[in-house]
Parts: sequence; C-alpha cells; structure tokens
Amino acid sequence: MSKQTGFKEDFLWGGAVAANQVEGAYDVDGKGLSVQDVTPDGAMGRITDGPTNDNLKLKAIDFYHHYKEDIALFAEMGYKVFRTSIAWSRIFPNGDDEEPNEAGLQFYDDVFDECLKYGIEPLVTLSHYETPLHLSEKYDGWKDRRMIGFFEKYARTVFNRYKDKVKYWLTFNEINSVLHMPFISGGIKTPKEELSDQELYQAVHHELVASASVTKIAHEINPEFQVGCMVLAMPTYPISSNPEDVLAAKEAENTNYAFTDIHVRGEYPGHLLRFFEENDIHIQFEQGDTELLKNHTVDFISFSYYMSVAAAAHPEEYSSGAGNVIGGIENPHLEKSEWGWAIDPVGLRIVLNDFYDRYQVPLFIVENGLGAKDQLIQDDNGQYTVADDYRIDYMQQHLAQAKEAVKDGVDLMGYTAWGCIDLVSASTAQMSKRYGFIYVDRNDDGSGSLNRYKKKSFNWYKKVIETNGENL
Ligand code: BG6
Repeated sequence: MSKQTGFKEDFLWGGAVAANQVEGAYDVDGKGLSVQDVTPDGAMGRITDGPTNDNLKLKAIDFYHHYKEDIALFAEMGYKVFRTSIAWSRIFPNGDDEEPNEAGLQFYDDVFDECLKYGIEPLVTLSHYETPLHLSEKYDGWKDRRMIGFFEKYARTVFNRYKDKVKYWLTFNEINSVLHMPFISGGIKTPKEELSDQELYQAVHHELVASASVTKIAHEINPEFQVGCMVLAMPTYPISSNPEDVLAAKEAENTNYAFTDIHVRGEYPGHLLRFFEENDIHIQFEQGDTELLKNHTVDFISFSYYMSVAAAAHPEEYSSGAGNVIGGIENPHLEKSEWGWAIDPVGLRIVLNDFYDRYQVPLFIVENGLGAKDQLIQDDNGQYTVADDYRIDYMQQHLAQAKEAVKDGVDLMGYTAWGCIDLVSASTAQMSKRYGFIYVDRNDDGSGSLNRYKKKSFNWYKKVIETNGENL
C-alpha cells in the first residue's frame, strides 16, 4: 500500500461559476426566464413580477459575449477543469416545451469547444438555482412530481448533445439547500412559511429520484460519464463537550448527511425515517423509486465549502452566526469574512475526512473561496490590478488543509475555486462581494466597463497549478 504525500498527478485544478451568475443575456437567443430573473436582491429576497432594471444578473458579467476572453484567461492560469452550469431555460425556455432551443444548445457547444481547445475539461452542473420560471409558476417547482419528467428530458437532451465533449456532470447544486430556500433552490413559489415539512421533504424526494434517474440515463448514453451529487458542506461543531451539545451537533450534521446518504448509499437513513415518523411525514414513493435510488447512486461526491458553524442543545443561549444558507450558532474561535462567514480552513480537512470515512467514494471540492471587497489599483507599470493578499491567504490555508486530508488517505479528485472570475453573488446579488482571480469592472449600481483585470491571486494560483499544489 502506498501512502499519498500530495495531490494526485491528474488532480483537476480549476475554477467554478454558475450560468446565472456570469452569463447575463437573460433574454437572448430564445432563453426563457428563470427564478434568477425575478430575484433582484438575491436568494432569499423579494420575488418580482418580471425582470427589473435593478437585477444585476440580467447582464451579470456578460460571459455570454465574453466567454472566449475569459476561458483564455483560465487557460493562462493552467486550468484542467472549468465548472459551469447549463441554464436550463436556454435549452427548454419554459421547462415543459416539446422541443429544445437550438440556439441555446449551440451556445454551450461553443463554450465547451473553447474549453477543449485549451485542454480544459468542462464540469457541468445541470441545475444550479436556475429552474425555468414557468415551471415554478405552473407546477410550484419540485413540489410537483411532474418535474422529474421535465428534468429527465432536459438531461437526456444535453447528455446526448455533449456526450463527446463533457465527461463530468453534477445533478443539483447544493441539493440540501432546498430545505432552506425553496424558491431559488427548488423553484417552489409557495412562500417558505406556508410550506409544511411534508411538502418540503416530498420535493426533496422528487429531486433525489430525478437525480438517480438522470444518473441512470447518463451512464446509458455514455458509460464513461462521471456523475456526482453536489451538497453544501458545513461541519457543525458542538459548542461544548457537554454530551447534549455533542448530540445537537450530530443531529444537525445528520440532517445534512441525509442527502449524501441517499445519493451514495441509495437508501433513506434511519435517523431521517425516525424524523419522518415523529413528525407525521409520509413520503409518497411511486413504483420503482426504491430501485432507482438503490441502483443508480453517484460516482463521486462534490461539495461547496465556505465555513463551519456550531450547535448547542440550547441554541437560544448563544448568538447565531451568519451562514451561507444553513445557519447555526457563532463559534468564538473563528475570524469572519466581511459578510460574517466564519473562516475555518481546518473545517475543510474535517469535512473531507468525514465524507470519506462515511462513504469511501472520490470527493471533489467544487466551490471554495473568499467573498471580499476588492480595490482596483494601478501597479508600477500602470497596469490595473488588485492586491488581494487576503484571498491568497484564505486559499493557501484551505488548500494546505485539503492536502493534509489527502495525506490522511482521502481520495480527492480536484478543486475548483468558486467565482474564479468575479460574478454576481447568489445570496446578496451584489457585484461587490468578489471571489475572483480576475476582476470584472462592474459595480453594484450596474455601472462599469466590464473590462477584465488580473488580480495578484491570478499569478499565485497559476503557480499552485504549475507545481500541482507543492508550492502553496
Ligand atoms: C454557494 C452557491 O452557496 O455559494 C453559489 O452554490 C454561491 O451559487 C456561493 O455564489 C457563494 O455565495 P455568495 O452568496 O457569496 O455568492
């Protein structure tokens, strides 16, 4: 047996974005509206009747017209992989259309061809908070079982179309977030306060069945396809060593792990069945669901990691920490980002070990990074740049912990830095919450030239990739 001393030779280094946060062109070439086009304030803000001028996502960073320039910059950094999503409503503008939209399909052909030209593998999320608005309005999104059929048709269309261009696929971005933000994550228009746990978990069941079903379809279309699930990972620490606090943390983690338990083991875990029974929740399984879930599990687990939280048996005694979707209580040992997100590099090593110990399947970190305010300056040669040492520091520490996890024996496939080019934030719909190695000149009021500038972190990440993470 050989001990792993660093990232594997074919480690997939790269960056990640989502269609709705970069593309813009919200109504171009036949695209239909999605839930993003009516949420100008971000994931949990107001829902407007239609697209409004204050919605930055309508234009975003106009990747739709800048993709060649952007992919060339990714190639210059040495990316092996580029994660993006397909905007479902570019392919099926309403979601339940008979025929796909050829112009939408062609756009992604062009994007993937451009990646492949540089030897960059596309890693494609099928559904990244972009449910076609019509599906939300007519069916109440994933509450309705008919969504499975629409999703299967969409997935089959893109699997067939890109079967020789894309090998790595993810089904639902942060699938566990549907419990917390049903509209953005699940296209469910009924306000969260009016949704029962029964309805939410039934929607979860529909998504999980759809995920298993398209995993089956994917492998039939191309047995070489690698299909992963995607979850929001958030280690939850007990606030003290009191067994009651430890149990509270365990229970919070179990709620999250339920999703990977089903994706990977193909069965509902006992703790979730118990929760259903104690809360009078009766999930309606249709014929074939059990077999689908059991027989078409994922090839790997991918996840986002930004922060950890703490839990206590009596959370009301503590102050709550800001969180990416899933809340928790504040951990006094950790520093926070400008948006109040706890910075915890060691948590990444913990979560990698926890996932691997639990499932023994390959893991892929498909989102990680620091949302920060950047200042554009001119360097000695008059070039515009950002001195983002804080971002380098954040990523360096996280990658060092990822490397520790690899040394612990974790099978890690790759790392895609979130928002590798500045984009519109999902939770707050701001441009000023920047993650990129590449600065995009666009401001929260919509002004800006859309010019791209390399930040200091651009060359740092290039070196990381060049040395396969030896030089962090
Ligand atoms: C994840 C999402 O929750 O976090 C991304 O998958 C999102 O879409 C990222 O952008 C960072 O969150 P935010 O709110 O800072 O953009």
